[in-house]
Amino acid sequence: MRKIGVLTSGGDAPGMNAAIRAVARTALYHGIEVVGIKNGYQGMIDKNFRRLESHMVSDIIQRGGTMLKSARSEEFMTEEGRRKAYNQVSEEGIDGLVVIGGDGTFKGARMFSLEHNIPVVGIPGTIDNDLYGTDYTIGYDTALNTIVEAVDKIRDTASSHNRLFFVEVMGKDAGFLALRGGIACGAEAILIPELNFDTTSLREHLEAGYKRSKLSNIILVAEGDETGGAFNIAEQVKDQFEGYDIRVTVLGHIQRGGSPSAFDRVIASQLGVAAVDALLDDQKSVMVGLMNREVVHIPFNRTIKHHKDVNRRLVDIQDILSI
Ligand code: F6P
Repeated sequence: MRKIGVLTSGGDAPGMNAAIRAVARTALYHGIEVVGIKNGYQGMIDKNFRRLESHMVSDIIQRGGTMLKSARSEEFMTEEGRRKAYNQVSEEGIDGLVVIGGDGTFKGARMFSLEHNIPVVGIPGTIDNDLYGTDYTIGYDTALNTIVEAVDKIRDTASSHNRLFFVEVMGKDAGFLALRGGIACGAEAILIPELNFDTTSLREHLEAGYKRSKLSNIILVAEGDETGGAFNIAEQVKDQFEGYDIRVTVLGHIQRGGSPSAFDRVIASQLGVAAVDALLDDQKSVMVGLMNREVVHIPFNRTIKHHKDVNRRLVDIQDILSI
């Protein structure tokens, strides 16, 4: 292995820069040249390459976003696009790739490595934490902290006015951010795609709380929930929740930004080192993940096809603590 390429793809996540830094520095440590590929897979097709030296990844560990920029490339989804990308990387002399992203990124990486003879290793970077084969994805912890900070503020105004807030958080089709966010914020309820929703039990739950003087309520709604998000659910229940003064807040993309937490910086560093080690170890088509604090290598097809299960014990904890 003489030259590796690194890119970020899909939705950005805090800690991606820390992962780029770790990949670049580990490769340089081993005497391997590093090429930063800008704009995700599209940058491979467009040959948007830049050699990375150690100082070029200085002062980025604490920054959100990604210095390499990110994109979701339609062209790379075609066989022709992937062939163009392969021609560009082989012309550049790149003999291994590290891709940082989520589910969509690994789907692309899997296709690419099936069609072309180049080892690709993935690093899980998404705020959604929805990848099978790793306990945590880079960015999830920071996004959770952003949710906690925002919901704590909403709580102040909710309790001052005795209001019911539906707060929508991100997570695509998974409820991990809503579940842990709910526990961390002391939410009265969470609505997530992994659990069935029923208006009557939600109302009964809130009424039971009201009888015990719980006059304000925060309900975290995962954006991918069957209810169709916070605005929809508020509209759906308003006739049955007559006594409640309902408000809706959609947290949106603030969850994707900001300086990464210490936890995200550390796992990004661990996984960046592990990804280069995996390439040096002749691994291909795998994601490096962390399970029970150990580095694991999960083939792309497993991490893409198996949906990570929601932690049922955490669901119970949320229920018990929100009586
Ligand atoms: O996958 C990360 C994520 O932020 C999801 O939680 C969300 O559904 C999606 O990306 C939004 O993507 P964008 O606004 O970049 O199209």
